[in-house]
Amino acid sequence: MAKNHWTRELELEVQRHLRDESSGHDPYHAFRVRDLAVLIAAATGADADVVEAAALLHDIGHGTDRNDHAKRGATLAADMLSKCGFPKTKINAVVTCIEHHHWKPGRAGDPEQPTAEYQAFADADRLDALGAIGIARTFAFGGAHGRPIWNPEPGTPSQTPYGTSSIHHFYDKLLQLPNDMYTEPGRRLAARRVGFVEQFLRVFYLEWEARDFDPADFAVQDSFLIERPLEGSDKGPQSLPSDSRPYPST
Ligand SMILES: [Fe+2]
Ligand SMILES: [Fe+2]
Repeated sequence: MAKNHWTRELELEVQRHLRDESSGHDPYHAFRVRDLAVLIAAATGADADVVEAAALLHDIGHGTDRNDHAKRGATLAADMLSKCGFPKTKINAVVTCIEHHHWKPGRAGDPEQPTAEYQAFADADRLDALGAIGIARTFAFGGAHGRPIWNPEPGTPSQTPYGTSSIHHFYDKLLQLPNDMYTEPGRRLAARRVGFVEQFLRVFYLEWEARDFDPADFAVQDSFLIERPLEGSDKGPQSLPSDSRPYPST
């Protein structure tokens, strides 16, 4: 697919603003969201220019102020778009997408009548919080904000503004995201990605409680036995005599 002439300039701006971001909102998040959003737009008929620019620039305000990053990002985006040759008649549509982007359960606080462009971009942003990438980003965000991996004590009060633990966040957000997709491609991909998240949680709890093993994993086999040169021998490594084996033989 041929790139728009303004695309490269916006990519460089994203890299400049988010290069050192370590909470999962780095430039590659923006690039992945852009790639998916453009695919969704092609399937739903949303304006590809608006969707691409909104997806690329949506988190550009993260570098300075996370809490107000949507508003700050919208202001920065308006300035960048007016200088890079982006179609002037479409700038407002991009800025509106960025200004309103956020996530609350049940799409609370989303625009009452979201445009097709907002829907494509929002679905792509939410999809990047699911699947293997979403899992990696959840722990990266937790680490960047002092949030523990998991706290199994029931009723543990939250020590951070972002929840009790990253595993709690799976329930507070990730597992709810499939219900908040707007588009059919978004719903399909979300169903697949959330399946992987559920599988991850099952394995996580098994490993946490050391219940993931097969008894055969601990069976001792001859190939595990230590081989080393016997003292005073110049014949190289030899098997230890059977009576000095560190484990009972099976
Ligand atoms: Fe954001
Ligand atoms: Fe995002």
